[in-house]
This record gives sequence, C-alpha cells and structure tokens, in this order.
Amino acid sequence: MIEATNAGSAPIYLDFNATTPVATEVLAAMAPFWQTDFYNPSAPYPAAHRARQAVDDARVAVAHLLNVPSETIVFTSGGTESDNWVMWATWFARQLRRRRIIISAIEHPAVVASAKALVAWGAELVTIPVDAEGVIRLEALDAVLTEETALVSIMLANNEIGTIQPVAEVSKRAHAVGAWVHTDAAQAVGKIGVDASQLGVDFLTVAGHKLYAPKGIGALYIAPSVNLPPLLAGGGQEQGYRSGTESVPLVVGLGRAAQLAEAWLASGGVISQAKLRDHLEQKLREIHPQVRVFGCHAPRLPNTLAFACPDWTGSSLLARCPGILAGTGSACHTGQAGSPTLQAMGVPASVAQGLIRLSLGRETTMDEVHTAAALLAHALTSSAVPPIVKE
Ligand SMILES: Cc1ncc(COP(=O)(O)O)c(C=O)c1O
Repeated sequence: MIEATNAGSAPIYLDFNATTPVATEVLAAMAPFWQTDFYNPSAPYPAAHRARQAVDDARVAVAHLLNVPSETIVFTSGGTESDNWVMWATWFARQLRRRRIIISAIEHPAVVASAKALVAWGAELVTIPVDAEGVIRLEALDAVLTEETALVSIMLANNEIGTIQPVAEVSKRAHAVGAWVHTDAAQAVGKIGVDASQLGVDFLTVAGHKLYAPKGIGALYIAPSVNLPPLLAGGGQEQGYRSGTESVPLVVGLGRAAQLAEAWLASGGVISQAKLRDHLEQKLREIHPQVRVFGCHAPRLPNTLAFACPDWTGSSLLARCPGILAGTGSACHTGQAGSPTLQAMGVPASVAQGLIRLSLGRETTMDEVHTAAALLAHALTSSAVPPIVKE
C-alpha cells in the first residue's frame, strides 16, 4: 500500500511547465565554455574557433529539432524576448499598410502585453475566442482576417491547460490574406514534435528553460521569406538580427537540450509520458468523481493535467499537499487574479478558482505519480484535516 504522505522525502516536482532543471548532459556540454574555451566566437585566432564552431553546432541542433534550415534560427534570451521582438518588429515593418494584429484569448502575457502596447501606436488589436475545451475557433479567425492584417499570433500549446492549437490551419488562412504568422511554441518544443516547416509559420518562439536548457536562453525561428527588423543593432552577430557577443555556454546548452529533446521524442517519450499523465488523471477521477479536467477532449500536451475539484480552491488543496510542488495555473501570470485561459473558456470563476496544474517531466516516474495521487486522495478525503476553506 502506498503511504499517503511522503514526509521525509523530497517533494514531488510536478511543475515542469513552469521550468525544468538543467539536464546533466546540458551542464556537461556547457562546462568548457566558461573557462577553457571562453573566447569570443568572433575572434580571429584558432583558439576561438571552437567557440564559433560550438555556436554553429548549437544552431544546427535547434534547427534540426524544428526541421528548418540552421540560418533561420536566431538565439535570444528566452520566450519573452522572442515574443516581444516579433510583435513590435512586425508592427514597425508593416504598419503603413497593415494595422491589424490578431491574437487568441489564451496567449501568454509576453504576447498579450506586447500586442497591447502597440495599440498606443495605432495598432488595431483583435482577440479571437476559444471554445469550451480551450482551442481557438477557426471560424472566428476567418471573420476577422483582412488584407489589413499584419500578424496573427497563436500559441502552439497553452501553458495552463496544455491544449494544442491548429496552427497549420491558422498559417494557411492568414497567408491567404498576406498576414505573417507567429506561434509561441515555448511550451510545445521538447514536449511534442514541432515541425516549423509543416506548421507553415513565419516565426516560432523557443524558451530554453522549458526543455532542460538554462534560463536566459531561447530562440526565434524566422522564415527566410520575411524581412523582420533586427532586435539589436551593433556588431552584426546572429545574422545581423541580434548584435552582441554571444553567450556561448548558454547557446551550447540550448543546442545540447535540443539534441536530448530529439532523442526523447524519437524514443517514444510522448506516448509513455501521456500514459503516466492519463494514469494520474484516472486516479484523480476515482478519488473525486466530480473533478473537472480542463481541455481533456482536445489535443493536449502529454505532460499536462489541469483540473479543479468542486468546493476546493487550488491553493487550499495544494496547501494540504506540501509533498507536491505544483501551480495553480501558470507561473507566468504574476499578480493576475484567476486564470485567463479558463476565463476565456467560459469556466465560471467559482470553478476556475479550483485550478491546479500538474505538469510532468521526462524523469517523472510511475512511483511519483502513485504518491502524488495518494497525497491528493489524502488531502481530499481525510477527516483529520480542518474544514475546507473557500477563498
Ligand atoms: C507559452 C509561453 N510563452 C512564453 C513564456 C516566457 O518564456 P521565458 O520565461 O523564457 O521568457 C512562457 C513561460 O512560461 C510560456 O509558457
């Protein structure tokens, strides 16, 4: 029988959508570039060539993971930077003829806030709704796509509930009116196969710390056909898009993480992870038959389980489960009340306040899933605990 407590052992981390640890192999790959091979990759002497080669190899690895040519990958500091850059640079490039920017109601704040900032400069921001499962309505997109549309930005996988959006369809429709297409794939890359060519997008955001690379590194895929203004002017690094001496160790870390992601995907990682998640979901339904699982009838990331138990707030239930490290929604919505995604899905606030997001990692085991289920069962059913607190 499984103990209903894991007191004494380390808490079970089930918040991999917030961030991942740096993989051991990633750390090892980065190690030489702090001291031994610390050289500036642009330096002319042979000793610096290893740093240049390492940056080039990392670009090839990230490009391979996304199935695009390596020269289309620009390294950035992470998801927020990539999202912001696409938003204002598209506006800057296209505003004379195209003033409309379309996003969905469930985008990450890095997209929402940067799009909203453009309204002050004359942009017309249109937000399209999602259905009750948290998937965008394509007919709503059709209704607002015009020849004045500069950009459509639709995330590939939602950070809160994991639903996967029909981005390839979005690309087809948006390109028919000459709009550019961006997808924020920060949550998708490394968790499911992401083929930027097949998605047909012009821009795709990668966030390193969601796929076992360090924080502070990410990438932006830029299709060869678009002419995006550079982010930083200066020495011309990163194909002239983002000047500044490259952070070689971080870049190398993202490259190695991309290789690890490819190996994990090729080894059937998605299927085995979905089995673990489904098992946890099944246990939860047995413990609490009234549990509501969000996005469970839509295509979903294999690692994400977002749910609410009636009569419980997410924070009061998690407070009873100190052995589980998880979130009540997204770690990126600092200071925001409630879940924007659930709100967009039409979930009543009384239900939405129960949101808990469990997100599994590549190293999450069946034992951990069992223990987490037992901890939740104990919290939900134990009579030894104080009465339910509603916030
Ligand atoms: C969908 C999505 N986009 C963007 C970001 C921001 O990425 P970063 O933390 O690398 O700036 C996140 C982080 O949670 C995210 O989930």
